[in-house]
Amino acid sequence: MSIKRADALRVAVLASGRGSNLQAVIDAIEAGTVQAKIIAVISNKKDAPALERARRHGLSDLFVDPKPYAGKPDSREAYDRELLEVLQRHDVELVLLAGYMKIVTKVLVEAFANRMMNIHPSLLPSFPGLEVQKKAIEWGCKLAGCTVHFVTEGIDEGPIILQAAVPILDDDTSDTLAARILAQEHKIYPRAVQLFTEGRLRVEGRRVLIEAGKPEGDSIISPS
Ligand code: GAR
Repeated sequence: MSIKRADALRVAVLASGRGSNLQAVIDAIEAGTVQAKIIAVISNKKDAPALERARRHGLSDLFVDPKPYAGKPDSREAYDRELLEVLQRHDVELVLLAGYMKIVTKVLVEAFANRMMNIHPSLLPSFPGLEVQKKAIEWGCKLAGCTVHFVTEGIDEGPIILQAAVPILDDDTSDTLAARILAQEHKIYPRAVQLFTEGRLRVEGRRVLIEAGKPEGDSIISPS
């Protein structure tokens, strides 16, 4: 059972690359399993395939060039101020980082506290950062996975919303493991967005508690 909003949640997606997680969210919205609307897909890379995916689905795509800010003091913050202006102008309620390979500063983190999510291909807090599938194999881990978390100033550090685990097999390479993890990313990211949409995520310190769905209206329909 879910709580239905009268209007769709207004979401922006920040992506730098391939955009398969963006695609998973688009697909879930189009299938009606996520009640949200993607207001804009924004990239720091002009040729990001994610922007092309947005265009294919009739979504607004926007390249925000980091170059004019390069080399200036507080260049990252200045860049994020430009993003913030765009996000606020469009009344964005939730920001999704989906393969966004740029560190977000407190300009965005504070404005979107508990309203900005990231997906990361490891079972955090193990293996933040880059090349994490390779590191998990090299450590001899038997399980790997992915994490959706709220974004705080520390990299890959915010309160964890959902995780999914997969086995690491003896003959895995970084690529085979990344593919196995990615299939799970595509499941849990849309799911986390839908939980947010339903108002079911409650942050208590480092923990995110998921509240049970409430019945619609004043009746309980069984089976739901
Ligand atoms: C995904 O595996 C995502 O978890 C990872 O980048 C990939 C983007 O793929 N993100 C990070 O490593 C962030 N720390 P996609 O562009 O196909 O969604």
